[in-house]
Amino acid sequence: MLQAPGVLLLLCLGATNALYKQWIPDTNYENKTNWDKGKVPCGNDVVVFPAQGKVSVFVETTHAVQEMRLPVDGELILNSGAGFYVLSGKDPACGAGATVQFQDSESLQWFNPAMWQAAATQNDFQLGKFLFSVHEESVPCQQDDVVFKALSSFRVDTTSSQSTIPVTSVSVLGKSFNSKSEFSEYLSTRTGQMQFHGSSAVTVGNPGCGDPSGCDCGNSVNHQLICSTVQCATVSCKQPLSPMGHCCEVCGAIVTIQYTVGFNMQTYRERIHHLFLILPEYRSIQLGVSKVFKSQKLLGVIPFSTTPEIQVVIVDGEEGKLSEALAQNIMTDIRSHGSELGITESEFQASSGNSSDPSGGNAGMVAGIVIAVLVLIALVAVGVVLIQKGVVRLPPMPTIPMPSLSSFKGNTDVGDLGGTIDRGFDNPIFDHPDMLSNNPGLYGTESQSISMRQTGVHFINPVYDENESDFTV
Ligand SMILES: *[C@@H]1O[C@H](CO)[C@@H](O)[C@H](O)[C@H]1NC(C)=O
Ligand SMILES: *[C@@H]1O[C@H](CO)[C@@H](O)[C@H](O)[C@H]1NC(C)=O
Repeated sequence: MLQAPGVLLLLCLGATNALYKQWIPDTNYENKTNWDKGKVPCGNDVVVFPAQGKVSVFVETTHAVQEMRLPVDGELILNSGAGFYVLSGKDPACGAGATVQFQDSESLQWFNPAMWQAAATQNDFQLGKFLFSVHEESVPCQQDDVVFKALSSFRVDTTSSQSTIPVTSVSVLGKSFNSKSEFSEYLSTRTGQMQFHGSSAVTVGNPGCGDPSGCDCGNSVNHQLICSTVQCATVSCKQPLSPMGHCCEVCGAIVTIQYTVGFNMQTYRERIHHLFLILPEYRSIQLGVSKVFKSQKLLGVIPFSTTPEIQVVIVDGEEGKLSEALAQNIMTDIRSHGSELGITESEFQASSGNSSDPSGGNAGMVAGIVIAVLVLIALVAVGVVLIQKGVVRLPPMPTIPMPSLSSFKGNTDVGDLGGTIDRGFDNPIFDHPDMLSNNPGLYGTESQSISMRQTGVHFINPVYDENESDFTV
């Protein structure tokens, strides 16, 4: 219902509350972290791509190699002017020469917060102006624009419990996709399949955030998956805080804001930045603003509704003193300008144990709990009476079906091996893999060459059943 005016506003103001999320790792030939020796191979080296690796490698320039062993199924994307050559002699600058292997990037997960960096504009990535967010929001939100660096390739595992990962747009190799059909077409290309693997499909074209007060990230459904990739540091403060959407306890402060019409997330984010974060004393501060849905709980146990509120998480990597000072400053700013900003109420909590004391806050809470307890007792009493009188009958206890061991096994088999088995003999030189089996002659003659396409070079090593078979360039 609120969607339509939201979209209108978005068009009028041109302001979205979505962020750009950029995938950090790459599968570039020139990135030394991608090689097992920690260096890019040079002219005396034997370059080895693991046989079973399915990887799309971006090559930016020309490289000398001694010998190159290619995987069964893989792809080199050559930048214009890039290529390989073999030296007639030895390269004196290269040392004795060694076997240098391309690192495996199979296990890099979309839902790992450490793999992403966030920024308000795409230009901010170049400037190194990254935004801090809680773990759930470090991974792309449904209204975010996802960026894979231009002149770069990658391999990302999208496995999750959901069938799709909706985002607004995805930009790959410098091309931005925001049409659902165009991107799913890209995903079905060889390059797309090597870059994105795993059970969930990334879908683009999700509407951006039309609500000026911000939108829900949508990643709470994947909270467990996200947190399974996070290692929490031990915290040493008196009362560690647990921000919503974060996987770890932190030392610092949280400001919680209730808002009304007129609150604008982006304006407020910028306000905090200009008023406080640019000050030298706050240089070490990390601050994340997000809309969260706090569930209202009866007696602190039974959830009955959720209300949106704005959560400002402040951490300083220390015990939280600096964060507390900043939280106090933010509270002061809200006290004097809150009504202009659309803020109705705010409170803070610090890991020192200090917190704001909204007038009568505690008394109100105690009264609330007492009333809730009374209501609950009354409900139970009424229920018992009704059951005794036979007016209400207890439903039979529901039974929870337990998955059998065999069905578990079946699932893992499909997940882990299905893809590999299916594509084991796929030859990327040919657009029609069926042709292969029909033309054994072609298979033989073409197998020793690298086929070039506009977008890159596809290689295949069909004689790979002999492990030793090398491809010398
Ligand atoms: C090389 O890869 C690492 C890890 O994947 C990444 O952090 C780094 O930014 C990359 N280097 C460049 C120059 O892109
Ligand atoms: C709590 O707040 C008070 C008053 O603002 C301040 O003096 C004190 O240092 C704070 N406590 C801690 C442990 O930071």
